[in-house]
Amino acid sequence: MPDFNGCTYVIFGATGNLSREKLMPALYRLDLAGELCAETRIVACGRRDWDDAHLVEEVRGWLQARSRTPLNEAVFQRFAGRLRYFRGDLREEAIWPALRERLLSDPGLPGSIAFYMAIRPAEFGLVVEKLAGQGLLEENGGWRRVVIEKPFGYDLESARALQAHLARFLREEQIFRIDHYLGKSMVQNVLVFRFANTLLEPLWNRNYIDHVQITHSETAGVGTRGAYYDGAGAMRDMIQSHLLQLLTLVAMEPPVSMEAEDLRNEKVKVLKSLRAIPEERVEEHAFRAQYTAGVVEGRPVPGYLEEPGIPADSRTETYAALKLYVDNWRWRGVPFYLRTGKRLAAKQSLISICFRHPPQQFFRDIQEGPMKQNWIVLGIQPCECLRMEVTVKEPGLEMRTRQRSLDAQLRTARETPIDAYEELLLDVIDGDRSLFLRYDEVEWAWRTVDPVIRHWQAEEAPLPTYPAGTWGPPESRRLFEKPQQRWRHSLDPEE
Ligand code: BG6
Repeated sequence: MPDFNGCTYVIFGATGNLSREKLMPALYRLDLAGELCAETRIVACGRRDWDDAHLVEEVRGWLQARSRTPLNEAVFQRFAGRLRYFRGDLREEAIWPALRERLLSDPGLPGSIAFYMAIRPAEFGLVVEKLAGQGLLEENGGWRRVVIEKPFGYDLESARALQAHLARFLREEQIFRIDHYLGKSMVQNVLVFRFANTLLEPLWNRNYIDHVQITHSETAGVGTRGAYYDGAGAMRDMIQSHLLQLLTLVAMEPPVSMEAEDLRNEKVKVLKSLRAIPEERVEEHAFRAQYTAGVVEGRPVPGYLEEPGIPADSRTETYAALKLYVDNWRWRGVPFYLRTGKRLAAKQSLISICFRHPPQQFFRDIQEGPMKQNWIVLGIQPCECLRMEVTVKEPGLEMRTRQRSLDAQLRTARETPIDAYEELLLDVIDGDRSLFLRYDEVEWAWRTVDPVIRHWQAEEAPLPTYPAGTWGPPESRRLFEKPQQRWRHSLDPEE
């Protein structure tokens, strides 16, 4: 549905990476799909000495480099007509009244404004305070919303401080804390799969599920983001945010409705039910490592310590794995294994549910090797699919069994994928917060990972390493509760 009243999207950090890679391409594709109304405008704020015409040419280059299809010139012209450039350094006092003047005096800019913080997290608080100082967060003449990128804080304490600061200037309904994983269509499919089908609900609990694995692996290294990443590490960068969110969707109870507050109430219950990891037991629950030089997709690549901007003695983890328990009626005793890493053997995100063995194993004697368990694997990316593995009889006279999988590709080749940011940018315009984080979710996620991060910070033992292009150190298997449990690396069960 197009936004009929139009809004002004103000992007702070508009010349940066997120804006080039995600925000501008997503806004263009929304325009292409007819989802932006005629009045909507985009005000790009950056430090570079550009003007509107220069911005348009830059954006053309970004879109051409990233677009899945050639640029549609007519749509690009329409999109270009929406773009405005505002030059300013966030630390200069003078820019704030100038921004106010620009936003409020131009009759071509709609009065409902979304401010998108595509900037360093340390600047979120400052920008909100300055906007408030200019009265730009007051909702007269339209709504005012602020989109806060991750990370929301650096640990529990800093997240609380940031929240307290934002709450001085904004109502909760105005804050859109983004976790782009929630905008991925397969992530939303977890909810549909669970709550639009009755088939699995009776099995979705500790009586039938042996364990759950949530994996996000990347072949890329830290690239040009070394300065940010070295201060964060894999636990903060992926697990505290995206992977814990995936866990909540797998584990939550059916919500009262699909409305934002009902959904978020259930998600936060899961986070509150996570068994706390005491600092002295971190070794049982968490594992970390750092990549060394290796070969990725046939190409030699440097180790983490040789990457640009990384101190030679950095102890930042590029691989993190975590075992969690959800201590409630449904899940008590079922381990959830979360794992992520850069420079691993493949790029993909999977949620893998491993079921228990049947109570009696009639066919054990006729099968070579151990009996296989049923798995349901949800491919989040790159393959958006659902796979259900069952044991069947092999054809032939002998009574032998083998594994077969029922596969569903959830998108046909003709259906173009939608980027998570398209969905989320539109939700901000529509005021739909169901795919955004409420503060208590962020707080409970930090409570879960904080003891692990603290323990790692204090630890002096050498950091385990893994060659780039592998699946990480085999020692991470120590997290498994049972000897037969193992990391599931791919959709293919044999890999
Ligand atoms: C970001 C992390 O939030 O998510 C990156 O900061 C990571 O380090 C990225 O690469 C992964 O997102 P996606 O959508 O590529 O799976």
